[in-house]
Amino acid sequence: MSDLNPTPHTDRRRLLQLAAASAAVLWLPRSVWSQPRLASDPFTLGVASGSPSHDSVVLWTRLVSPALASQQVTVRWEVAHDEQFTRIAQSGQAQALPELAHSVHVEPQGLEPDRWYFYRFMAGDAVSPVGRTRTFPAPDAMAQKLRLVYASCQRWEHGFFSAYEHMQRENADVVLFLGDYIYEYAGAANAVRPTPGGWCLSLDDYRARYALHRSEAALRAMHAACPWIVTWDDHEVQNDYAGLTPGDSGPSVADFAARRAAAYQAFYEHMPVRASTLTRAVAGLREGAEMRLYGQVQFGQLANLLVLDDRQYRGAQVCSRGGKLGSSTLDPATCAAWDDPARTLLGAAQEQWVDAAFAKAGAGWNIVGQQTVFGQRDWRSGPGKTLWNDGWDGYSAARSRLTQSLQRHKVANAVFLGGDVHENWVGHVKADYDKPDSAALGVEFCGTSITSRSAGNQKIPEWLAENPHFVFADSVGKGYGVAEFTPQRLTTTLRVLDDVTRQDTRVQTLASFVVQAGRAVVERA
Ligand SMILES: [Fe+2]
Repeated sequence: MSDLNPTPHTDRRRLLQLAAASAAVLWLPRSVWSQPRLASDPFTLGVASGSPSHDSVVLWTRLVSPALASQQVTVRWEVAHDEQFTRIAQSGQAQALPELAHSVHVEPQGLEPDRWYFYRFMAGDAVSPVGRTRTFPAPDAMAQKLRLVYASCQRWEHGFFSAYEHMQRENADVVLFLGDYIYEYAGAANAVRPTPGGWCLSLDDYRARYALHRSEAALRAMHAACPWIVTWDDHEVQNDYAGLTPGDSGPSVADFAARRAAAYQAFYEHMPVRASTLTRAVAGLREGAEMRLYGQVQFGQLANLLVLDDRQYRGAQVCSRGGKLGSSTLDPATCAAWDDPARTLLGAAQEQWVDAAFAKAGAGWNIVGQQTVFGQRDWRSGPGKTLWNDGWDGYSAARSRLTQSLQRHKVANAVFLGGDVHENWVGHVKADYDKPDSAALGVEFCGTSITSRSAGNQKIPEWLAENPHFVFADSVGKGYGVAEFTPQRLTTTLRVLDDVTRQDTRVQTLASFVVQAGRAVVERA
């Protein structure tokens, strides 16, 4: 599966060594630089930046050229104050290793807070496109505005990534990508465009799928426009997988842990995430498999952003129909394990980490970026419930622990952002979703997909009546959300495309909402 060493233990150690070697700034004399003459542009996958803090940001590229084969390549990088690179802030070298698909993850330190920068890479005679990125304000700074774009779910065969054409004009400080960056499928019925390569099962398959996505110019351009903060959902590996339990799509493999490790490695190789995401080990997981994606970053005193991982550490869905793998919608009253407090969505370590983060939550906006709809969605009108067992609804004890943690620590200005469901859902985070008069602990904006289809069902008024903690839902529009945070208010604008099956589609505002600081109330703007 993996073309790295096959034993799990060596896998992990080797990955760590490779990541460290790749990120190390090596001061070699020019004569020993490994710089092959490249017949074609090796930077066709573009550049990206991500995981910003107040003094650092990850700079990413990946070299692609038949001439590289198994060679290690020295890549030079520059960070400048200006787009012409006349005022260089930092520069250095990194190694593009064949074992990591010639990806490069550079982490310049000591950058100035709250600053826009330009960056580029050089290999041989080739120079990469120029990327633009920024640092966040210092943790004690009184920042006045954060414009955050949230997006998720970009199934290649369901449409064009035209959303990113329009996103480039949103003046975003950061893109928060909430999962399903790729899909593992071999194609789709009524595909808008073909998916080369078939099912993603091996490291090479996953690598090719990421490269396919980056072949679309609009996505490359958005990566070059501002830093991204990323987490994943199921399709970066397999539909509905849970921890080390496989999901239900496509051919099954003999060793799911190895498939997951290959998928995780390909994710690392193509995303602007820190080398340290590879360096954490958690007891109980197969070594070599973990990627530590969850984390937090402060945007001055204005906002703190937690990003969660609700796929890697979760227990399996319960009571799926016919005992199958993957998810179902069902009546929880028929499922004894539904409310079992031992079941987890985040895993014990991440859950404790979130609780500790909530305990230290500041007075600004406390943003929680996670994969899916947080609030309960009961699909059955009237008495009784029908719930989906893959999202938070299927892990209700875990959701209650999180909302109790919000209450216990009196977390102010909680804003949950999500994806996964390919529909916009806007509402309130409730202390008890079965009691409409229970306290609102925060607000929730679950975003629609970049392209992935939804059922487009017209029963929205009925669903909202059954689930009054939601104030708005739309199952048609594809696009993204823009959340602008100021000390006084959050303004969220849902942006949707006319038609994702066309490349020249227009964007429009579906709805806008305002949340005043200090009040967990969503109002139409
Ligand atoms: Fe999705």
